[in-house]
Amino acid sequence: MANTCGFTNQATLMLLLLSWRGMHCKVDPPEDLVITDLGHLGQLEIKWSPPASLINKTECPQQYQLEYFNTYKNRWTGIRTSERSYSAQFDLMKEVKVRVYTLLSGPCTSGSLVKSTNYTEVIQKPPATGVEGTAIKEFICVYHNMEYVTCNWKRSSKMPATAEQNLYYWHKGLEQTEECPKYIISNNIKIGCDFSGINLPDFSDITFCVNGSSPEGRLKPIYTTLQIQNHVKPQTVEKLDLQTDPGTELELQWKSPAGRVPAHCLEWEIEASREGLDGKNTLQQILTDEPELTLPIHDNERSCVRVRSKMNKYCADKYFWSDWSPPTCYPEMKSTLPEAEQDMVSVYAYMAVAIITTLALCVCVWAGLKARRSREVKKLNSVFTTLLDKNPAVADRGI
Ligand SMILES: *[C@@H]1O[C@H](CO)[C@@H](O)[C@H](O)[C@H]1NC(C)=O
Ligand SMILES: *[C@@H]1O[C@H](CO)[C@@H](O)[C@H](O)[C@H]1NC(C)=O
Ligand SMILES: *[C@@H]1O[C@H](CO)[C@@H](O)[C@H](O)[C@H]1NC(C)=O
Repeated sequence: MANTCGFTNQATLMLLLLSWRGMHCKVDPPEDLVITDLGHLGQLEIKWSPPASLINKTECPQQYQLEYFNTYKNRWTGIRTSERSYSAQFDLMKEVKVRVYTLLSGPCTSGSLVKSTNYTEVIQKPPATGVEGTAIKEFICVYHNMEYVTCNWKRSSKMPATAEQNLYYWHKGLEQTEECPKYIISNNIKIGCDFSGINLPDFSDITFCVNGSSPEGRLKPIYTTLQIQNHVKPQTVEKLDLQTDPGTELELQWKSPAGRVPAHCLEWEIEASREGLDGKNTLQQILTDEPELTLPIHDNERSCVRVRSKMNKYCADKYFWSDWSPPTCYPEMKSTLPEAEQDMVSVYAYMAVAIITTLALCVCVWAGLKARRSREVKKLNSVFTTLLDKNPAVADRGI
């Protein structure tokens, strides 16, 4: 029987050899390690071949231990596989470092798993990286109420004014890298990308690249990989419903925003500011899982509350707070009245306005008429006076 380690089996030494051979087998590292960039923004394909010395050893199961420097976690990541290829995400702005070991088991090693002492390694320098200091800054993607994604960025100070920027993205569902479907433009400059209408998958790595060119050369590109469920910004709560148990409690209720965000994924923050008679303000923040809350109230105090939400830790690793709802206060004249009463108030207001307008009109018309009449009377008087002055006889005839 052929044997990797050059030993002949001997029944008497069998037991002893089993462990001894396992430790002293020399296993070669894999060969032809190649890293291929398929243009998927850093998703690289790693391929290798078994060592020539093991090609005909089909009776010995081979595995491989692949290690690569994970630039996102800043440490080595290792996996074991019986395949001869593997795909991993790399940051193309950094050095790519990959090592592969051979692992052998089966009759060739008497059953124990033996790892090659050496590894095959490939180190790739980052490709041409562009003019230093021209990379965009603060690249932020927001998944608005889980309905659509927008990504925004800021220019760096060294970026030439005439620089042209572009965004590309890729995820496993795409055959090839795509360009931004609709740029967000401000003052003729691209400042973001609007993905509304584009179905980006959640729980899947999506890589974005913003690169560009300028008369002075290529801009330094940036690469970002993220999962959009970690970038949700829930919709703003429009209205807080407020009920009071006079003098003791304030019962708050609000609606979870409609849309794709599951209600059980939301966590709420309520901010209550209380103003006492002395004008002193106290601020209180409360977190809750339910869209309701009861707050104690005190006499001679005015409370204003507002609410905002975020994804909880069971649904996402990261989050954005929603905007604050408009504040609702108690006591307050109008907004604390139930809707029916508010309607009555408006009706009364309209009636009052109507009555006042009518009265004012009447007064105007009356005043106008009166003015006209007195003018006519005056005119008549003056006609008479003139007549009488010119023709005293008329007066004598007693008209
Ligand atoms: C493997 O076996 C084939 C035939 O079975 C032979 O042609 C080849 O040279 C062998 N390769 C090695 C590396 O021993
Ligand atoms: C391991 O392999 C590298 C080449 O990949 C070689 O330079 C080095 O000498 C080897 N080390 C040992 C201990 O065999
Ligand atoms: C930007 O990246 C895309 C996608 O990788 C590439 O096709 C394009 O040529 C790059 N543009 C520049 C100016 O580097």
